[in-house]
Amino acid sequence: MRTIDWDEEKDSVKLIDQTLLPAEYKILECKTLEELIDAIKRLKVRGAPALGAAGAFGVVLACIRGNSKKDIEDEVDKLRNARPTAVNLSYGVDRALNAALLGTTTQEMKTYALEEAQRIADEDVAVNKKIGDYGSELLEDGDVVLTHCNAGRLACVDWGTALGVIRTAIEKGKRIEVIACETRPLNQGSRITTWELLQDEIPVTLIADSTSAAVMREGKVDKVIVGADRVVKEGVINKIGTYMHAVVAKAHNIPFYVAAPLSSFDLKRSYKEVEIEERSPDELIFFGGKQIAPLDVKVYNPAFDFTPFELIAAVITEEGVYRHLTQQV
Ligand code: MRU
Repeated sequence: MRTIDWDEEKDSVKLIDQTLLPAEYKILECKTLEELIDAIKRLKVRGAPALGAAGAFGVVLACIRGNSKKDIEDEVDKLRNARPTAVNLSYGVDRALNAALLGTTTQEMKTYALEEAQRIADEDVAVNKKIGDYGSELLEDGDVVLTHCNAGRLACVDWGTALGVIRTAIEKGKRIEVIACETRPLNQGSRITTWELLQDEIPVTLIADSTSAAVMREGKVDKVIVGADRVVKEGVINKIGTYMHAVVAKAHNIPFYVAAPLSSFDLKRSYKEVEIEERSPDELIFFGGKQIAPLDVKVYNPAFDFTPFELIAAVITEEGVYRHLTQQV
């Protein structure tokens, strides 16, 4: 199934619970907005485009429960703020809410919100295919591509952005291998990227994040492709560790690409104005339920970092490949 979808029979949001992968594949049903917000905060559904769809379907849940437009708008504010960094969450929420507000009864509002949410989900798949088409032209037969975090079908409604580029290149007959960085601390790379690539029989090698410089120096990487949580006026905000790979790629003359839909663009804003989500110290103090650091150690655990355009060879979008990007004024 798609990463996230609407269940017509149960009037609920269904999503693949990504915290259980790769050990267990389980579909989670969210009947209330509270359940969906909890799923977003716990990263059961994650990745910028998937959060856009989650935001939109969340508005539908708010319409089912809400008694008035004011009620619905108040509830939806909590959803919009469930995670602060990816711009897609508020993009999805606002599109579905604006559609809902055209209705006069709560039933009408629900119908309009659902139609818009389905449109956002379908668009996401179509957009990713276009990103794949443009991006695949940048890859050559035999390339080894390093990626960070998960910008695959599980970060989107389907297909993926960075991994979508790889999927399309393979579909076009190119032989591509992937190096997946584990992406500490929540391991979206080792748990999710490797799992989804193996499902599609795409060759993948898992490395620790700290191995990326070594593999680039050893000449084992031809290109780097990552996704984006927000493209701002001076560069790209993406999963923590992205900046480190970009610096190392530049040092080794390896093209560093970002694949992102236009719904992730927020060019009016500077990276300095974007809230970078800081996550619980427990994510570094514990691993798999086992304590691995002193309980009282000071922890700094940002979920995202900023990479300036100078380090990015091109941004691949559904409208084409943008090279030589400089700060937007
Ligand atoms: O914390 P996450 O797992 O939601 O972070 C996801 C990422 O950083 C992805 O690289 C980004 O959202 C792009 S997904 C197409």
